[in-house]
Amino acid sequence: MARSALINVMVQAAMKAGRSLVRDFGEVQNLQVSVKGPGDYVSQADRKAEEIIHAELSRARPGYAFLMEERGSVAGEDDQHRWIVDPLDGTTNFLHGIPVFAISIALERQGQIVAGVVYNPAMDELYTAERGGGAYLNDRRLRVAARSRLSDAVIGCGLPHLGRGHHGNFLIELRNVMGEVSGVRRMGSASLDLAYVAAGRFDGFWERGLSPWDIAAGILLIREAGGFVSDMKGGQAMLEDGSIIAGNEPIHRALLKTVTKPLKA
Ligand code: IPD
Ligand code: CA
Ligand code: CA
Repeated sequence: MARSALINVMVQAAMKAGRSLVRDFGEVQNLQVSVKGPGDYVSQADRKAEEIIHAELSRARPGYAFLMEERGSVAGEDDQHRWIVDPLDGTTNFLHGIPVFAISIALERQGQIVAGVVYNPAMDELYTAERGGGAYLNDRRLRVAARSRLSDAVIGCGLPHLGRGHHGNFLIELRNVMGEVSGVRRMGSASLDLAYVAAGRFDGFWERGLSPWDIAAGILLIREAGGFVSDMKGGQAMLEDGSIIAGNEPIHRALLKTVTKPLKA
């Protein structure tokens, strides 16, 4: 499969950062048993990966703006293009030696997501998509799953935790969903969750309280794999709102209805 010059640039940045993360991940696994734990080491690994991605992308496409988790917004001379980057998505997994984390890079052109790369370096799984060009896992073309009933579906989600999210509301959503589906999963990396929907591994996914860098690349992966993505009101303000719900057309529709079902008295 021939990749475009743009996707090559993004893949190169993701893979270089991935090599750095995998080296640090090895050390993090050793540090689990130390009293201090791997906390500082992980923050450094995260920042190092972001540096690599920033350097690679700035060299290949000078002047493009950035929105990065650690650095925040970086203006560019080119006001048409913006990279949206999470250098390490799944930090808690990384910190605990769980090999489920990813680098997520998206490119926006005039406010529209036109390219996305999500890379899990521990499993060497590379997801790529370009607007109008389809979505791929390594060299394999992706298609969302075909299951049309919630009762057959495995649904991914994000869980609020210490200091994050509205726990009571989430429990209502989870209760609504778990009685209707074949299984619920919580993987801990939103970009990979969305990539799993694109790959047909998850039939659907929902989460609130996310940031643009968690989801920008994954949104395009799902669309290019023939899936549906919206915010939790059914609109397209995912990046602004931070909520997302995804699946194939019937699962997206049914899941949105189920998740947001009002609590019966
Ligand atoms: C987190 C992961 C996680 C999601 C959190 C995100 P981070 O990103 O994507 O799955 O539930 O809301 O903040 O902090 O590991 O980059
Ligand atoms: Ca993230
Ligand atoms: Ca992150």
